[in-house]
Amino acid sequence: MKTTQYVARKPDESGFIHYSEAEHQVWNTLITRQLKVVEGRACQEYLDGIEQIGLPLERIPQLDEVNRVLQATTGWRVARVPALIPFQTFFELLASQQFPVATFIRTPEELDYLQEPDIFHEIFGHCPMLTNPWFAEFTHTYGKLGLAATKEERVYLARLYWLTIEFGLVDTSQGRRIYGGGILSSPKETLYALSDQPEHLPFDPIEAMRTPYRIDILQPLYFVLPELKRLFELAHEDIMGMVQRAMQMGLHAPKFPPKAA
Ligand SMILES: [Fe+2]
Repeated sequence: MKTTQYVARKPDESGFIHYSEAEHQVWNTLITRQLKVVEGRACQEYLDGIEQIGLPLERIPQLDEVNRVLQATTGWRVARVPALIPFQTFFELLASQQFPVATFIRTPEELDYLQEPDIFHEIFGHCPMLTNPWFAEFTHTYGKLGLAATKEERVYLARLYWLTIEFGLVDTSQGRRIYGGGILSSPKETLYALSDQPEHLPFDPIEAMRTPYRIDILQPLYFVLPELKRLFELAHEDIMGMVQRAMQMGLHAPKFPPKAA
């Protein structure tokens, strides 16, 4: 695995995490730009979450500020982690209603894309949805299942995560909208995902588990929930039985070219 150039910031004795002026400026650039792009494209639950959390524009927020709102709405909180964490730690955190946030922000050179999820991706992309009880319940269940799953099963669960929590679309009475944090933290993908370029398929969890993905390209295919509540329903269905079924059926052929060596 490629090693990261980023180092997550640690809090001082009082629990406060310090960032440089240049880092606050990157946050300001990203959030100012992206708030305009998600308007009318993100689902209402996400936009409500943005409003409830009340993210600052001029500086990187402290995790405690986000936690106050998450705790009050769904009982979740964010947990400070280093840039890269193992699968095991990831599932342990989700299973205890903690969403991992690496406390570093991308450099201006990587403003539009970076491989490691930074604090802008985690907080702006994911935390607004975590104020929604249906989304929060699904994410919690997902963590508990992942913790108990085998290594092979986790690979199938990872695809389900990718095509819902990261790259999910949802139909609403206002039209097709985005709820996936991987899309909502990227201006380019927010516009592209709702354009006529990618393929849209009705959400099917087994099909999602069978769909290979690459993390470094715009997604060729998105799954569309009939409504956000579908995630809550799924949390109460036999997801591990679906994993078994997906493993028997095998993977679909990729819709993208192989990664250049
Ligand atoms: Fe993410």
